[in-house]
Amino acid sequence: MSASSPRVAVIVVAAGSGTRLGAGMPKAFVSVGGRTLLEHAVHAVSGMRSDAQLIAVVPAGATDEVRRLLAALAPEAVVVAGGASRQASVEAGLAALHEAVEVVLVHDAARAFTPSGQFDAVVAAVDAAGEGVVPGLPVSDTIKRTDADALVTGTVDRSELVAVQTPQGFPRDILLQAYRAATEEATDDAALVAAIGHPVRIVAGDPLAFKVTTPADLARAEQLFGSAPVVPRIGLGTDTHAFGGDGELWLAGLHWPDEPALAGHSDGDAVAHAIVDALLSAAGLGDIGSVFGTDDPRFAGARGEVFLEATRERLAAAGLRVGNVSVQLIGNRPRFARRREEAERVLGDILGAPVSISATTTDGLGFTGRGEGVTAIATALLVPVT
Ligand code: CTP
Ligand code: MG
Repeated sequence: MSASSPRVAVIVVAAGSGTRLGAGMPKAFVSVGGRTLLEHAVHAVSGMRSDAQLIAVVPAGATDEVRRLLAALAPEAVVVAGGASRQASVEAGLAALHEAVEVVLVHDAARAFTPSGQFDAVVAAVDAAGEGVVPGLPVSDTIKRTDADALVTGTVDRSELVAVQTPQGFPRDILLQAYRAATEEATDDAALVAAIGHPVRIVAGDPLAFKVTTPADLARAEQLFGSAPVVPRIGLGTDTHAFGGDGELWLAGLHWPDEPALAGHSDGDAVAHAIVDALLSAAGLGDIGSVFGTDDPRFAGARGEVFLEATRERLAAAGLRVGNVSVQLIGNRPRFARRREEAERVLGDILGAPVSISATTTDGLGFTGRGEGVTAIATALLVPVT
C-alpha cells in the first residue's frame, strides 16, 4: 500500500461558514496556537499509521489558498470546493476518491484536535466489522424532552444515548450507496448509512475530538493547544538570623514585644527575607542581596514588609503575580502557633496572594535547637499576568 494507491481515504469537510463561531471568516481558517483549524485537522490525518488519500473540502473560492496553505504539510492532498450543506460538501469529496480506496473516513475540520490514533482506530474497526463505524462518548448530562412551551414532557434514558463524533468510517461502496440514496439532509454520514439499512457500530470516541462550534469552544481549544500556555514558575529561598539584635523582635511581618530581637542589617525578619528570595528566584530576578543591597544604608533597620512590597512591584513590572507562598519557620521561639493566622493575613495582604506558614523545632539539635537563632525556608509560585 502506498500514498499513490491508497486503500484508505479521509475526507476532511471544511467548507462551512462558521456562523455560530462568528469569527468573520470560515471556521476552518480560524487559528489556534498559530495554525488554522484546517491545518490542525490535516496534521492529525498525516499522523495516521496507514497512508491515506486526503481530500480537503473547502469553501468555493478558497481552493487555491488552501493548496498553498497545505503545500508543505500535505503536498498530495486533493482540494475541492464544497457545497451549501455539509452533505453536499461530503458529496463533493466523494467525487474525488481515488479508485483504489476501499475504506472512507469522513471528518469535520471543526474537530481539529482529534488525535491521529482515533483515525487509525476507526480504520481498524471498519476493517474488522466490514460495516460503518462511528466514534462516540457517553452522555453525562440528564436529557429532558420538552414541548413547544418549554414544558418538560419526560426524561430520556441516558444509558441509551451516545454523543457521536468524527471521523466516521465506512466501506466505500456502502457510503457511496447511502449518498446516492439520500433524500433528506442529515447532519452526519452514519444517519444516511443507517437510512439504507446498513448497521453502524459505535467505537470509543475521544474528548479531544470535541467540535469547535461556539466562541467558548474556541477559548477551550486555545487553552489546550494555544501557543502560549501559562507556565507557572517556582522559587525557593531561605534565611537565617541569630538572636542578639537591638530592640524587640520582628518576625513574619509581626511585632513580638516580649521576645528577643534577631540581629541583622535590617530588622532580621527571616520569614520575610526567605519569602523575598523565593519570589526573586521564581522570577529569575536575582536575590535579596543583589537586588536590594543588604549593605545599602537605605535598608538599615528596614521592616520585612519594605522588601516584600518592593519585590511585588518588581514582579509586576516583569509581568508576574504571586500565586501562593509557603514558608516554614524553624526555631524554638517565638511560639508561633497562636499568631500564625495573623501573620498569614499580614503577609498575604502585602503580596496579594495566599501565604501559609508552618513552624517547627529541631528537637534541641543544632543552632535553632540551642535557641541561638531561627531559619525560614520559603517556596513561592508565580504566574504570568494574562
Ligand atoms: N461543513 C462543510 N460544508 C458546509 C457546512 C459544513 O464542509 N456547507 C463542514 C464544516 O466546515 C465543519 C463540519 O462540516 O467542519 C461540521 O459543521 P459545523 O460545525 O456546523 O460547521 P459550520 O457549518 O461551518 O458552522 P455553523 O453551523 O455554525 O455555521
Ligand atoms: Mg453547520
